Amino acid sequence: MNLIVAVDRNWAIGKGGDQLVYIPADLKHFKALTTGHPVILGRKTLTTFPGGKPLKGRPNLILSRNPDFAPEGAEVFPDLDALLARAPEDSFVIGGASVYRALLDRCGTAYVTKIEAEYPADCWFPNLDEDPAWETVEESEPMEHEGLPFRYVTYRRIK
Ligand SMILES: NC(=O)c1ccc[n+]([C@@H]2O[C@H](COP(=O)([O-])OP(=O)(O)OC[C@H]3O[C@@H](n4cnc5c(N)ncnc54)[C@H](OP(=O)(O)O)[C@@H]3O)[C@@H](O)[C@H]2O)c1
Repeated sequence: MNLIVAVDRNWAIGKGGDQLVYIPADLKHFKALTTGHPVILGRKTLTTFPGGKPLKGRPNLILSRNPDFAPEGAEVFPDLDALLARAPEDSFVIGGASVYRALLDRCGTAYVTKIEAEYPADCWFPNLDEDPAWETVEESEPMEHEGLPFRYVTYRRIK
């Protein structure tokens, strides 16, 4: 399983239920990597998408304990076991914080967008640079969006 996440310098990923920042090139990068693969997300992350609707071109596998939650165009799972029974190996975990936490150990590759800034935040991703279970295998050249530097770093699980 893979995961994809955008973090700031402190590995912060969100505030007040939304993303820290939207970088158009990063959204394209996210789309290019995930299209054609199932995406796994929590119910709260769905609300951050345009119109609160599932992403197109990808099976959307959503975790929610609410039995009445049934968004059109998505499959909803009440727990991790039900999700894992259905999720193929090429799935991408796309957040949020609780779902990354729950599934990090199942992921072999992490596609991390590193944004060179520090934002006020209320949720974080584990710092993979400090985790001996992960190594960096690829790093893009630095890029910039309206003066905001960012880059793509790929990590692979080594144990
Ligand atoms: N920077 C990034 O790359 C990135 C990516 C995605 C999200 N985010 C940010 O992350 C934040 C949201 O994260 P979050 O942790 O608050 O919410 P979340 O993980 O998106 O969703 C949490 C919800 O998912 C369901 N859920 C989670 N684990 C479950 C389990 N084991 N079994 C059944 N249902 C489960 C529950 O839904 P019910 O309450 O319906 O039961 C829970 O309330 C936002 O700020 C968002 O913008 C950042």
